[in-house]
Amino acid sequence: MTSATTSTAMALIVLAAMSFDALPTAHADADFISRTCRKTNNATVCLAMLSANPKSAYGTTEHDLTSIALEIAISIVYNDRVIAELAEEKEGTPEEDTLLVCHNAYIGAHNDLDLQARLAFEYADYAGASKVVSLAKVVGDACENAFKRINKKSPVTGIDQQMTEHCGVTADLMDVLVPK
Ligand SMILES: *[C@@H]1O[C@H](CO)[C@@H](O)[C@H](O)[C@H]1NC(C)=O
Repeated sequence: MTSATTSTAMALIVLAAMSFDALPTAHADADFISRTCRKTNNATVCLAMLSANPKSAYGTTEHDLTSIALEIAISIVYNDRVIAELAEEKEGTPEEDTLLVCHNAYIGAHNDLDLQARLAFEYADYAGASKVVSLAKVVGDACENAFKRINKKSPVTGIDQQMTEHCGVTADLMDVLVPK
């Protein structure tokens, strides 16, 4: 064999390896996400949530996907800044006070998720992490209810809904990891 044919053969082997590697796993990953999501109380929300993050395609264990879900849930509480800005815009209105209540609640949830839940998860205390995430989850409804009490339309419904849904799925996924 000349060196040219050797490298052509090598290139073909590499190509074959790549296509075998790339195509079937991509499908397997989507299946794996679906199978994992079916173990939660809301597979639709779970699937939409995890599929929106490209990292999920590389998740090979339930632990990986739960870790990604937690990061997604944590990213929602970073909206506390958006809520603070909205409160400033509504200065002097009843909405301002309510937004400040929501803001405080999200700051608390930020601490719960980013510190406590993350720590519990890292120490494999999945039941503990699930409890913390479930506690943070109520912030979404609490904020929506605060606007109902003052009979005003909530300007943060989108954030609140994501909070409720994503924390719900994350807590469910943590429960899946709890040894039976
Ligand atoms: C899942 O969540 C969506 C959006 O919040 C909701 O409309 C749907 O009823 C939920 N499904 C279940 C089975 O709880």
